[in-house]
Amino acid sequence: MKIAIINGPNLNLLGKRENTIYGAQTFEEYFELLQKSYATIHFKAFQSNIEGELINFIQQSDAAFDGVILNAAAYTHTSVGMGDAIRAIDTPVVEVHISNTLAREDFRHKSYITPYVKGLIVGFGIDVYRLAVESFLLESHSPNLS
Ligand code: DQA
Repeated sequence: MKIAIINGPNLNLLGKRENTIYGAQTFEEYFELLQKSYATIHFKAFQSNIEGELINFIQQSDAAFDGVILNAAAYTHTSVGMGDAIRAIDTPVVEVHISNTLAREDFRHKSYITPYVKGLIVGFGIDVYRLAVESFLLESHSPNLS
């Protein structure tokens, strides 16, 4: 399985940025542990502060990956273009946010991404990325609860 993790603006500052909201771990540290924990999954991480670069990467993810985990950060709340890019590709996208955006300022309640994603995981800290990976594994490992 191939999974792309796409991080939007200011997520390169995880570990330094607003620690009480986003935690003290850098994404690089977390990503290394994630790769070790899921040794059979091929991960690619991409971060940009530039909207067009993020859209280019979403477009290139089509067919190249089995799933995309996307934290569009501030562009979540502003970018029609990123929403359109997700609509345009067949690869399923899971939207994640480290913080619970719905418990924060009103402008963070709007997402141009959510209508087009497979699912949404918010508010569990940096482990939202791991939970999103698990969501892609659900179909193969799902217990029979019926
Ligand atoms: C964020 C939430 C966004 O509102 C914010 O602009 C971010 C990070 C999160 O992961 O909690 O940069 O996407």
